[in-house]
Amino acid sequence: MLIRQNDDILPSEITPPEIYRERRRFMQGMGALAAGAALGGTPDAQAGARLAGVRASAYRLDEEKTPYKDVTRYNNFYEFGTGKSDPAENAASLKTRPWTVTVEGEVGKPGVYDIDTLLKLAPLEERVYRMRCVEGWSMVIPWVGFPLRELVRRAAPTGNARYVEFVTLHDAKQMPGQRARVLDWPYVEGLRMDEAMHPLTLLAVGLYGEVLPNQNGAPIRLVVPWKYGFKSAKSIVKIRFVEKQPLTAWMKAAPQEYGFYSNVNPQVDHPRWSQAKERRIGEFFKRDTLMFNGYVAQVAQLYSGMDLQKFF
Ligand code: MTE
Repeated sequence: MLIRQNDDILPSEITPPEIYRERRRFMQGMGALAAGAALGGTPDAQAGARLAGVRASAYRLDEEKTPYKDVTRYNNFYEFGTGKSDPAENAASLKTRPWTVTVEGEVGKPGVYDIDTLLKLAPLEERVYRMRCVEGWSMVIPWVGFPLRELVRRAAPTGNARYVEFVTLHDAKQMPGQRARVLDWPYVEGLRMDEAMHPLTLLAVGLYGEVLPNQNGAPIRLVVPWKYGFKSAKSIVKIRFVEKQPLTAWMKAAPQEYGFYSNVNPQVDHPRWSQAKERRIGEFFKRDTLMFNGYVAQVAQLYSGMDLQKFF
């Protein structure tokens, strides 16, 4: 039996969640105003704002959602530091307006999309997905976004487009973590074309019905729920359609540890640790890791005939 000490109880657990979140938002607003004033700029009015016209979708995992405070304070975003709380503490320096996403490469219709145009590209949906980090923790997150394939179709890929590459902003002034060479910046990720076209693959612009907080990859990020979290590149500025398999930031850094596919697979261990179990944030006992993170029925056919030990 687990006995909890009083000082383990977080304010969020003793204050009704709505009141707690209102208070939190008020205090964040004050913080943002102060930061804006200190930098001489305008605070980012978007962060935390309610997104209008979000449709419910059929992709709603029936599991308890990870609390907002964990989703937004326990992050991996090395551009703002390698600690779990660093992104929430440091990401206020990211300016998400104006913001453009360049679509280029093997496409009939290349273009530079303003983020506010992208937000209207397709109806926004809420999707509750299970997310699994390669480090062994998992969350259940209500994302808001639209399927990547809506953008892919508009770009009209040529017959040579076999992969899609995603590139994060590279600007050490806004992303202080880029001053340290923990990775060869910018952060790059990639998907095979059929993975990019899969209906589960999302371009997310929000979570919990609100505009994405900077630490979660504002203003637009990828979400690929059957792959380890590092495939889901944050704060994207470029989407390139290419013939050759992209060289991702993690493959460059440690090719023996991070493969291109990175599908969640309890039978393929990371060279330094087992992937058989995972810790759902907020839970005490570990759970079994699910093949393709539980999305077998939807995605297994993408990999039929492939040796997943080799193509890890
Ligand atoms: N994208 C960029 N640009 N930089 C990063 O460091 N970390 C990845 C991924 N996307 C990362 C990134 C990893 S390891 C994970 S687990 C997820 O983002 C975490 O997303 P979250 O913080 O929103 O849960």
